[in-house]
Amino acid sequence: MRTSVRIKVYTDVNSLVREAANQIVSLAAPAIKDRGRFSLGLSGGSTPEPLYRALATERFTRYLDWSHVHVFWGDERCVPPDHADSNFRMAREALLDQVPLPADHIHRIEGELDPELAAARYEQVLTTFFGQQETGDIPSRPRFDVLILGMGDDGHTASLFPGTTALGEQVRWVVPNYVDKLGVWRVTLTALAINSAAHILFLVSGTEKAGVLRKVLLGPRQPQVYPAQLIYPDDGLLTWHIDAQAVAELRA
Ligand code: 6PG
Repeated sequence: MRTSVRIKVYTDVNSLVREAANQIVSLAAPAIKDRGRFSLGLSGGSTPEPLYRALATERFTRYLDWSHVHVFWGDERCVPPDHADSNFRMAREALLDQVPLPADHIHRIEGELDPELAAARYEQVLTTFFGQQETGDIPSRPRFDVLILGMGDDGHTASLFPGTTALGEQVRWVVPNYVDKLGVWRVTLTALAINSAAHILFLVSGTEKAGVLRKVLLGPRQPQVYPAQLIYPDDGLLTWHIDAQAVAELRA
């Protein structure tokens, strides 16, 4: 596979959700057929939630063999798994509790732990799942079949926030990241790990994202200011799913 980028624009968020769900379901089938499993990385935020709810409906579940799906997260807030802010909790309520997914196929980031420990443990989970390279002891890449990302109105994605230390990480797949402007710790995949995915789906909706989306896609390269600019798969497909409100300034 060679890297390619597609931009898909929808009249409303419902069509965006439907097409993103279709894309996920159609990518799962060949992965399960060829390798016996489908690895799906989830994000937090408000845009993915309707997608998770859609994936839990019969319209999509009948095409997806959940017994072969493994679920991961791109980032997590440093809170317990039942906390209102937990990305795991959101995905569990919207999707995971509704589908026949084996419990040991849920690979969450333990936001209740010390952030450094949670990052190290999650990186170990990824190393075990995605394996070691056949030669040498260099770990292979965390090659998610699909990784879902959102983008904040400041250009952050996963928990890669503007100006934070995680942006410069060149070795680790997962790091703790202090977000000064929110006064909180997060645990996040690094750009190195995200860009290893086979398919990255960026979901962007709403007027408040329009200005930053234009800067991310058309502005000068400033990843310290707009971390979403770091996302470009090494060897995979990046699809931007954008609704009419978020695309408004690109059109202008
Ligand atoms: C999180 C995220 C984050 C999110 C964006 C967009 O934990 O908050 O993973 O990167 O995707 O902030 O969020 P919205 O869809 O709510 O705008």
